[in-house]
Amino acid sequence: METVLSGIRSTGNLHLGNYFGAVRNFVKMQHEYNCYFFIADIHSLTTHPKPDNLHENIKKVLSEYLACGIDPDIATIYIQSDVPEIPQLYLLLNMNAYIGELERTTTFKEKVRKQPENVNAGLLTYPVLMCADIIIHNADKVPVGKDQEQNLEMARKFARRFNHIYGVEYFTLPEPFNFGSDLVKVPGLDGAGKMGKSEGNGIYLIDDPKVIRKKVMQAVTDAGPEKPNSIKPEPIQNLFYLMELVSEENTIRHFDDLYNNCTIRYGDLKKQLAEDIVKFTTPYRERILDIYNDDAYLRRVVSQGAEKARQSASKTLREVREIIGYRSF
Ligand code: ADP
Ligand code: TRP
Repeated sequence: METVLSGIRSTGNLHLGNYFGAVRNFVKMQHEYNCYFFIADIHSLTTHPKPDNLHENIKKVLSEYLACGIDPDIATIYIQSDVPEIPQLYLLLNMNAYIGELERTTTFKEKVRKQPENVNAGLLTYPVLMCADIIIHNADKVPVGKDQEQNLEMARKFARRFNHIYGVEYFTLPEPFNFGSDLVKVPGLDGAGKMGKSEGNGIYLIDDPKVIRKKVMQAVTDAGPEKPNSIKPEPIQNLFYLMELVSEENTIRHFDDLYNNCTIRYGDLKKQLAEDIVKFTTPYRERILDIYNDDAYLRRVVSQGAEKARQSASKTLREVREIIGYRSF
């Protein structure tokens, strides 16, 4: 069975874009692949979070993924900093990563622009740590968004380089995992573009109904169609697209008919969409809160995940040390 590994940023809550674009697929994937999901809480130190926020964010993200259906008895879900073999492998890989190539990485250059006051070495070697995350379990496939493609390419490069330097075929070269036809792009409600954290237009699974209603009622629309059966402009298309994700088929058909005969009232459509989003997110919100408040459960999940991850990681590290030439006396 192929191994799929996904690293999760430990900042920010899940919005509908994350859910439909990624997490929903992860939940399906865990039955088809040997899956590792981990919270990248060492990477998050590159932006210097406050100690209280660090723990809080990890707990939030973990609760959200579990609430969405990642099953700790099926997949391996763990926290990066619980697996000391990862930073050990990272240290070893750093010896074969060159400053020049690291400086040329897009994500590094972007961070230099964004946080010029904090250009730390961790930012520079971010792709090396990401490589260690991946190859420590010899992952075959890694689902990554557009912004992480280059980092994955670097991981392949470092894995290939290790094999080459030591004349072994030890590490698998990780491929991007493609969701193929399952790939959806969730639009924002601000008229154009995708829903995203940095776009500031997210509808979050944890949002309470009042917040969701307010966000949806503020969605951009237009003056309405003038001719029957006209093509929907992007802001309207986006509302219908969201409906496709959360509403019943006959609701969509109803509003589509109203649009086509020019009697649609966008206020009604938004109200319905808001209720359907609330109906969709409510069970998730409730589960997130339940899990978040269940420290005993979270403790169990985290220690079970760390144990499973360390089993695979320590085997790799042992073999890597052997290949590098560390021998016992
Ligand atoms: P954000 O910063 O907006 O939370 P990320 O880039 O962290 O988004 O997203 C993590 C993953 O969630 C992405 O790799 C992608 O698969 C998915 N994702 C995020 N936004 C969307 C969207 N609007 N539509 C579809 N998928 C999305
Ligand atoms: N860098 C990824 C992000 O920002 C998170 C991440 C860390 C990751 N290590 C990984 C993703 C390993 C995939 C594989 O989204």
